[in-house]
Amino acid sequence: MSLDRGKIKVLLLEGVHGRAVETFTREGYTSIDRHDRALGGDALAERLRGVHILGIRSRTDVTASVLDRADKLIAIGCFGIGTDQVDLEAAKLRGIPVFNAPFSNTRSVAELVIGGIIALARGLPERNAAAHRGKWMKAVGGSTEVRGKCLGIVGYGHIGTQVGLLAEALGMRVIYHDIETKLALGNASPAASLDDLLERADIVTLHVPETARTRHLVGEAQLRRMRAGAKLINASRGTVVDIDALAAAIRSGHIAGAAIDVFPREPGSSDEELVSPLRGLDNVLLTPHIGGSTLEAQENIGVEVAAKLVKYSDNGSTVTSVNFPEVALPEHGGKHRILHIHRNQPGMLAQVNAVFSAARINIASQYLETDPRIGYAVIDLDGADRPMSAAIRRELDAIEGTLRTRVLY
Ligand code: NAI
Repeated sequence: MSLDRGKIKVLLLEGVHGRAVETFTREGYTSIDRHDRALGGDALAERLRGVHILGIRSRTDVTASVLDRADKLIAIGCFGIGTDQVDLEAAKLRGIPVFNAPFSNTRSVAELVIGGIIALARGLPERNAAAHRGKWMKAVGGSTEVRGKCLGIVGYGHIGTQVGLLAEALGMRVIYHDIETKLALGNASPAASLDDLLERADIVTLHVPETARTRHLVGEAQLRRMRAGAKLINASRGTVVDIDALAAAIRSGHIAGAAIDVFPREPGSSDEELVSPLRGLDNVLLTPHIGGSTLEAQENIGVEVAAKLVKYSDNGSTVTSVNFPEVALPEHGGKHRILHIHRNQPGMLAQVNAVFSAARINIASQYLETDPRIGYAVIDLDGADRPMSAAIRRELDAIEGTLRTRVLY
């Protein structure tokens, strides 16, 4: 670490989960200032003075001008998935890595999807709606078990694979389609193509990211390819399904039910109304983008992001940072470790190494990763003492193109 851990100031905003605080304190970080609200502009800049580590959720905008006034900031943690609220490029050019928790809610989404699969197979959305209107919709209708049915997973990534494993435990046959070649887990097998999957699956569930290529991945033509009476689940991104085409396919009866958690236009708050052509269709289960919203996911996020911040602070590792070259580092037990973040320009490493040769100091190990804009060099020293490391740091700071240096003891 660069300072006594107790002197490293941590500012946590927006009611970051208590498990994050526990993670910091267990590791000896005791100077933690935690607030329930978001801060913005001048108020944020003011509060950031002297702070080394900032933790936020989605409502705190960390702009370039805020970063300019953050005199001590070494790292930012976004306690969630999105990182749009931070000017990532500006943070990078100030030598500040940003971390998030991309997979903390994977299981939560997978469980909601499993709930959706069973609910659709038993016609729960329409039976629930009917019962609320006093109607006793007891006839078996199209109700089935899920055992033995074919689940088609589009996008076999973190969530898709979890859904597949859980579905197999229920006795489903699992096929998947992905643009990458993926290792099939359990007894799942790849479909020959998206069309092949759509033609074979009793239930199709979508787990792709939002890209130009996935926009309306499921439109009128794809819905027509699905089996008569098949069902669709979308808990990925709203743009992936052509929602008007889906509403038409549901009305025509070709698609017998759907569970939709994400929408092309989602209300910004609970005061706004959901506007969707799917409203009023009883066999469509509508949920307000809650796939990842569980207490467990919040806890996982708290632990995961705090652990990444502690690791960077103690050891310099930037693994999984969203804006920084990723360097995985071993423990530096007893050796001084110099972190040098610089503009990625020719001759930089030669100048860095010249500082060490001139000081006649032995380099025990050295790590370097770059991206087009910055380089991140980590140098472990043999037999350095504090005055020596401090002198080296001053010389490294003087190299033109240096963005930031730290010394970890
Ligand atoms: P991931 O990146 O692990 O997996 C996505 C998979 O989709 C990858 O295997 C990728 O190769 C594949 N893919 C990309 N383009 C494709 C295409 N055109 N056709 C077929 N496959 C394609 O992502 P993860 O973590 O599994 O998330 C999946 C989706 O779930 C994302 O859209 C994410 O935003 C969404 N999500 C929704 C939540 C909710 O609350 N409903 C919560 C968390 C994530």
